[in-house]
Amino acid sequence: MTILASASVNLFRIPTRIVYGRGVASRVAEPLAEVGAKRVLIVTDKGVRNAKLLEPIEQALRDAGVTYDSYDDVVPDPGVAEVDRCFARYRESGAQAIVAVGGGSSIDTAKMAAVLATNGGSVLDYVGIDKVAKPAAPVVAVPTTAGTGAELCVNSVIANKAEHKKLVVISPNATPLYALEDPLMTVGLPPFLTAITGMDTLVHAIESFVCKNAYRASELLALEAVKYAAEALPRAVKDGKDLEARDLMMQSVIMATLAFSNTRLGNVHAMALPLGGWFDVAHGTAVAVLLPHVMAFNRDSALEKFETLAQAMGEEADAQNAVDHAFRLNEQIGIPKRLRDVGVRDDGIERMTDDAMKSGNIAVNPRTTERADIIALYRAAL
Ligand SMILES: [Fe+2]
Repeated sequence: MTILASASVNLFRIPTRIVYGRGVASRVAEPLAEVGAKRVLIVTDKGVRNAKLLEPIEQALRDAGVTYDSYDDVVPDPGVAEVDRCFARYRESGAQAIVAVGGGSSIDTAKMAAVLATNGGSVLDYVGIDKVAKPAAPVVAVPTTAGTGAELCVNSVIANKAEHKKLVVISPNATPLYALEDPLMTVGLPPFLTAITGMDTLVHAIESFVCKNAYRASELLALEAVKYAAEALPRAVKDGKDLEARDLMMQSVIMATLAFSNTRLGNVHAMALPLGGWFDVAHGTAVAVLLPHVMAFNRDSALEKFETLAQAMGEEADAQNAVDHAFRLNEQIGIPKRLRDVGVRDDGIERMTDDAMKSGNIAVNPRTTERADIIALYRAAL
């Protein structure tokens, strides 16, 4: 039986063990020893390899006598074929666990390959809520962004490129065993990637805070995540070597993900996935551009919460201040102003609306949302 969160049922499940601290990436061998893995597959992308972020991890594996192979071919927005390729590599290598190093794409590819390792079948069998019967093979996830929260989240996003769809797998059995949250791994992340991945965190926190499934404990986590991100994101974008800002952003990711993994999100995420599916808009860019428009739409349905959000963002407790702050923050950190600036066209709005309306995030958005509302919101952001 699956117990789902709702407005009257609070859910809190975090299957992943979370380790946070500067330098914890180099402790990677310890969780592997815990599960007896002597041979592992590193799942990453060439950017992470070229940025030399794998060196401390590979050194730690060698020191511990863990043998490893690498799959460096993760692409942005991985699809079914990419997961199958990664899984084939895992099987050929004889690995007993995966070390995923990178952003959401690397970590989601690893999570899905690990699901196939123990459950068989195709990723498409697991789309939806709680369809994964057995725990995935052990994954130790080391994020290099702060971030999507993929390293400790029950959600994974897989692209179906032929149908322009982004599919979501939601299951406690499809999560990493460990998340090693090391702010030092994010220091070299360029300003624009820092901005869009950080906005994803802020949007997770805001959407979880105001959504219909929120309850006191999830709200506290989400609200602290908003405070940390509002303070630290502009700093981390301005100066990537601002270690305190990188620390705060990593902590913001952890708190935001603990919250939204248990409450779901809202209209921003319902609308963002079709932007990726139809127009290849990067997830962080999509959610950042949409955020202030959806906040304006939701404001009067959750006035007190928006006042609290305004304060968490360092403003006077006025609901409109939260909306204005989000617009200003986007401008300050270099987010494109409009969806048209990133290639979105008006003639895609109907199709995107069809897809957005199928998302479970619509039902938990604080303001009841109809098809016409989604069309108007896409138009407003276009
Ligand atoms: Fe997101």
